[in-house]
Amino acid sequence: MLRTMPLTAEQCRVDDDIRRAETLPAAAFVDGEFAQRELDTLFCTSWQLLPDHGDDPRPLDEQVTARGTRVPVSLLGRPLYLQRGWDDDVLRAFPNTCTHAWHPLVLGASRGPTLVCAQHGRRFDCTGRFVSQPGFTKLPDFPRDCDHLTSLPIAIWRRMVFANLGVDPARQHSLAPSISGTAALPSVFAEIDASLAKMPAAVERTSAETRDVAGNWKQHAWNFLDPFHIGYVHRAPHGLADAIELASYTTEIYEHSVLQWVYASKPADGFDPAWLPERFHDRAGRRVFALWWFVFPNLALNFYPWGLSVNVYQPIPGRPEATRFVWHQWAIDREKHADRDRRWLSAQVDAEDVDTLAHVSRGLRSGFAPRGRFAPDDEQAAHWFHRNVARGVFGS
Ligand code: FES
Ligand SMILES: [Fe+2]
Repeated sequence: MLRTMPLTAEQCRVDDDIRRAETLPAAAFVDGEFAQRELDTLFCTSWQLLPDHGDDPRPLDEQVTARGTRVPVSLLGRPLYLQRGWDDDVLRAFPNTCTHAWHPLVLGASRGPTLVCAQHGRRFDCTGRFVSQPGFTKLPDFPRDCDHLTSLPIAIWRRMVFANLGVDPARQHSLAPSISGTAALPSVFAEIDASLAKMPAAVERTSAETRDVAGNWKQHAWNFLDPFHIGYVHRAPHGLADAIELASYTTEIYEHSVLQWVYASKPADGFDPAWLPERFHDRAGRRVFALWWFVFPNLALNFYPWGLSVNVYQPIPGRPEATRFVWHQWAIDREKHADRDRRWLSAQVDAEDVDTLAHVSRGLRSGFAPRGRFAPDDEQAAHWFHRNVARGVFGS
């Protein structure tokens, strides 16, 4: 068994100097108390992709296009609902919890100028404002601010709906969304947007999958940021290491995000240069195989000539040893999209990583090898990730 005392900031400190730095301790990947701290910190100060609602195969934004429509969604174990305005066209997100006595407000997709709580009939409008409730007509000081619903900040990026659970407590009931400790989404995505300025928009979302996989969410994020394993886990022949020019692998580290990119072994498997800014062009005619973007703490946006593969590594409250893996794919070029598993090895790389991380998660629980070190040339992005987790959780 690993430790029982809560992890301290000192035990999790990751030195700024990669040559001296140790990784986060093994306990940070298995410990329930640390996992809860992450939910209260990293996941309340970051933009999170909202998962789909129920069995509806349509992307979330399409489910709430009509005025007055609403759907329930769950984000990191917290119940929310999305609501399109009735008098305006604004999309809002609210806690799916009644301010009277906590019953869920939206049990399935519905539509209308107001919604009525199923437990005792409290009525809210599409902006979250309390409208009426039988029995509540003669109360002094009613409704209070907190009898209305708190609107959470949301943002839409390339048809994906993001929400932020970090509502400023001082303004929690003001109905005006504000965020504490979080950069606005456009600034978080600024470098990504610059790299995509010439990229065509996706034509359709082709698949959406959610599954629980072994290993803490940080293992999956770390693995995504780790080019070091490609030559081993995805080795030649027939692996990703064959499809790319590994020696050209480039890692660019920004404040909120990291870009990894590499040239394709075969130019035909690379991007049309017209889709990318000049800095990716190569005089020798090599073409970029992929732009692998990571947004801290847990979002991967993988742009290929066929389209976009989105991975979210969601923590599962109460289960630090597992990750809810959300995988959406969007086609930009339909013909290449159909070929993505053969030429870009999409499914194979995913299966190899999932298998490797299941092994690692067993090693993490062994109690051996409590902290590792970083290879300075190959593990800069991993170091950036570990340092940001430590700082985000402990605030220093
Ligand atoms: S819990 Fe909603 S009206 Fe009572
Ligand atoms: Fe991998």
